[in-house]
Amino acid sequence: MTDSANVEIELKLLIEAIYLKYNYDFRDYSGASQKRRVLHALHQLQCSSISELQAKVLHDPDIFLELLQYLTIPTTEMFRDPEFFLALRENVVPFLKTYPSLKVWIAGCSTGEELYTMAILLKEEGLLERCLIYATDINPQSLEKAKKGIFSLNRVRSYTKNYQAAGGKCSFSDYYTAAYDSALFDRSLCENISFADHSLATDSVFSETHLICCRNVMIYFNPALQERALGLFHESLCHRGFLALGSKESIDFSSYANSFEPLVKPLRIYRKR
Ligand SMILES: C[S@@+](CC[C@H](N)C(=O)[O-])C[C@H]1O[C@@H](n2cnc3c(N)ncnc32)[C@H](O)[C@@H]1O
Repeated sequence: MTDSANVEIELKLLIEAIYLKYNYDFRDYSGASQKRRVLHALHQLQCSSISELQAKVLHDPDIFLELLQYLTIPTTEMFRDPEFFLALRENVVPFLKTYPSLKVWIAGCSTGEELYTMAILLKEEGLLERCLIYATDINPQSLEKAKKGIFSLNRVRSYTKNYQAAGGKCSFSDYYTAAYDSALFDRSLCENISFADHSLATDSVFSETHLICCRNVMIYFNPALQERALGLFHESLCHRGFLALGSKESIDFSSYANSFEPLVKPLRIYRKR
């Protein structure tokens, strides 16, 4: 048997072990990128094989938490792809304004940059106070960071540019206080945010949601898991609710292709039929 065949077997066993021991289900993530991430983690966690890593992970929850950082890819930024937020502002917000109360779900919110982005947008549109925002992720360390709303000051310059390109109506610096090398975002932005450890692979729906935003998450899933996530979104949305996936994800090849109508096609912003 070749080395690479062994790696495939070891990888499967590791993912199964994580599921059995910690109930995190990575079994339906797309194979190639998962393998790359685990191999990268091997070096960082000083293991010579995936089997060695598996043994460590099984016996030490802290090692599992470290590995989770590699498996979950927390990469994010504020007003990422500004044209997406501009499109939400111009095409979705006018409909949202017709509801007396709103539920918004940010699925896979990572360390919170996208969440504070959404809160700023909703605030500027006069909607934040009537919103309940669910912010969910499977990575507890990311959720803790998201709750704090403290981001690196040296990224704020590019966030400011993004904010302006996304149709920001105020001065971006109105939303944070700078201290040393950090930007602390206004606590009033997260008054109506409910943070939850929630997996699109194993958990259930949020009912009667008006807008779901889930970007750069399903790209890591295989088609079966993408199908599950889309099913959750479809069931969670209220009548004529909005699903915003961003340019990297699509519903085109799923069984939900006809369950949504495109509102802004290139940015994959849909409305439930
Ligand atoms: C690349 S980040 C995207 C963050 C943000 N949505 C954005 O676009 O800037 C992917 C996030 O998806 C989360 N994630 C991965 N699998 C998940 C699952 N099964 N359920 C919920 N979130 C998941 C990861 O923990 C990570 O925070």
